[in-house]
Amino acid sequence: MKYKHLLTPLKVGNKIIKNRMSYPNASPHFLQGPEDYPAEGYRAFVSNLARNGAAIIDLAEWDNPDQRKGPMDMDMTHMQSFDMTNPAVHNYQAQLAEEVHFFDSKVFVSMQEKMPAGYSMDGGRFPMGPNGKPTEILPTERVKEAVDLCVEACRTYKLLGFDGLTVRVDNELIKKPNPRTDMYSGDSIENRTRFTHEWFAAVKKAFGGDFLIKAVIAWEQPDGYGPFTRPGGGYTEKEAEEFIELFDDVVDILEIRESDVCKSHPTGYTMKEDVHPAVDFAAKMKAKGVKMLMAPIGGFQSPDEMEKILAEGKCDMFVLARGFMADYDLGDKIKKGLGEDVVPCIKCNKCHGTILPEHEPWISVCSVNPLMGKSGKIHRMTANLTHEPKKVAVIGGGPTGMRAALYAAGLGHDVTIFEKTDSLGGQLFHSDYFSFKWPVKNYKNWLIREVQKNDKIKILLNTEPSPSDIEKGGFEAVLAATGAKASLPKSIEGIADENGNAKEGVYTCLDAIPKEKELGKDIVICGGSEVGMETAMFLCENGHNVTVLTRQNELGHNCSKLHYITMAWIKITDDGRAVESPAWEKYENLKGIVSVTTKKVDGNTVYYEDADGNEHKITADNVLICGGMKPLTDEALSYAASTPEFYAIGDCNGAGNLQICNEHAYSRAMLI
Ligand SMILES: Cc1cc2nc3c(=O)[nH]c(=O)nc-3n(C[C@H](O)[C@H](O)[C@H](O)COP(=O)(O)O)c2cc1C
Ligand code: SF4
Repeated sequence: MKYKHLLTPLKVGNKIIKNRMSYPNASPHFLQGPEDYPAEGYRAFVSNLARNGAAIIDLAEWDNPDQRKGPMDMDMTHMQSFDMTNPAVHNYQAQLAEEVHFFDSKVFVSMQEKMPAGYSMDGGRFPMGPNGKPTEILPTERVKEAVDLCVEACRTYKLLGFDGLTVRVDNELIKKPNPRTDMYSGDSIENRTRFTHEWFAAVKKAFGGDFLIKAVIAWEQPDGYGPFTRPGGGYTEKEAEEFIELFDDVVDILEIRESDVCKSHPTGYTMKEDVHPAVDFAAKMKAKGVKMLMAPIGGFQSPDEMEKILAEGKCDMFVLARGFMADYDLGDKIKKGLGEDVVPCIKCNKCHGTILPEHEPWISVCSVNPLMGKSGKIHRMTANLTHEPKKVAVIGGGPTGMRAALYAAGLGHDVTIFEKTDSLGGQLFHSDYFSFKWPVKNYKNWLIREVQKNDKIKILLNTEPSPSDIEKGGFEAVLAATGAKASLPKSIEGIADENGNAKEGVYTCLDAIPKEKELGKDIVICGGSEVGMETAMFLCENGHNVTVLTRQNELGHNCSKLHYITMAWIKITDDGRAVESPAWEKYENLKGIVSVTTKKVDGNTVYYEDADGNEHKITADNVLICGGMKPLTDEALSYAASTPEFYAIGDCNGAGNLQICNEHAYSRAMLI
């Protein structure tokens, strides 16, 4: 058994937890429609998590139907918001629990405190935020009523088959203005969390080990952190420890996040590979003899890494959200000891929703798992597809070509990848250079490893077949993944010759990356898209001074607005507040000039115009052009008549990102 510790069950209270991996409160945003009950897509997603190895699954509760009717700035357009006041809804909740139990897993409800109507503990708004309804402060003598309501809510869930309760308590740990003056307020952790302790103690008294309690904290929060806090807010590691001591009698499992909202959704930028401060904190608590089980969360997926940490006794279990989403065969691969075959999550947070100004509402999908969120419908969609083994040519050894080859080989086809360069990986080569792209590098290397070891896939490097080569070669289907190339916009004078090739000294961002060492100190990048900004950050990290010119009114305009939880960092402002700030603001040697149009490049000088039509110029050692990508569609279509079946996939068919590339790879392979 390669992953013995990871697969060893645990007895917690009166429940057996089947292994050491659980799933947090992390529901993809698009699975639920307007239904007041868990929709089929949502139920299928949840039961698939259980099948995929999640021993405990937290389900969002949000039992306030009003929440969904509000504007976009709250979660109501996408979040589950089940009407638990309607007994018919209970049926579907019970079915959900039954589906999870079928796979020997447990289901917890992720609950907020219950209050008598119109009241809250601190007189804030419910649900939180400016659009919530104002509430009154619950009088001290009525707090018991609130505790009873919380216990009754747990009783309902327990009757429906739920196994426990999850509560995020770090909101209480954070110091924030509180108008109360009784023992439920004040600076001490004991007072701040007194209500929650009374609630948990009452649940324990009512249900004992039959209904478990999981608390979620971060191991510390920066001073002044959070929308409602000000300097002097946040909480320290010592306060987190104090909380643990106070709650050790009532909490069964402690989910421990990293220290702030950016790091609690870790990316290649906010997290270093193999570095997990939450594990160190868990180990420290275990060494102190704490009883509650320590379950760190944030960036875990590698079975080898989790196994090692458990074997060292540093924690008791792990909580994984994106790890389960990125690979729907994670559980099976762990059972078979095939850790290196797990599809690496690239930590892009697309599953958390991509909300772009021109792209509403929230769509949450997975960049590397085209099946993510399709559990409820994929069987219907593919029911009539049959797969006779065929000879398949894949043109292009980039990420789309390799993934399509893997899917086609998995369906029994005999696959040949033709790659015109001397290496596999296509545009993902940049991940070998950017320090913060290590998750993408892991994904690229996983693709290369998987195609190389697959005996149904033949790889021909330095080979660009003609359409007649394909026809003569007896291929029966082509998956053309010819990709895209960086373009040089015609609107900028002086960058390209009459054939459209870059003039001497002009680089596209992609061309410049491997030549970084040859570039001078001062660099201008024309174009401030995500690619431009990431290239700028890479150059800054390597000691260059970079100025980015963009005609948009902000840098990184096409970054997901969830950038704030993908590559943001916590900046402490002059007045002591902790503000989530875009990655590029960290670099003192990076300057952005917005709302300007690059007109001309002459040698090392860039001429640009501001919004008022005033002309400016800037001189640098090198000028980089970041002007988007041109799909190599004609190259792909040239193969269209060479086999009875032809599909253009990936960037040559307008994909533009890994998620759509992988959708193409999976679905077109399924069509063969
Ligand atoms: C789709 C999605 C939805 C999430 N929703 C919530 C949420 O509603 N509340 C919350 O506290 N955390 C939420 N999270 C954060 C996760 O609970 C978790 O902390 C984070 O994904 C880091 O863990 P991971 O690296 O294993 O994914 C969400 C994460 C994802 C991917
Ligand atoms: S690859 Fe991206 S979208 Fe998929 S699970 Fe990981 S972070 Fe989410």
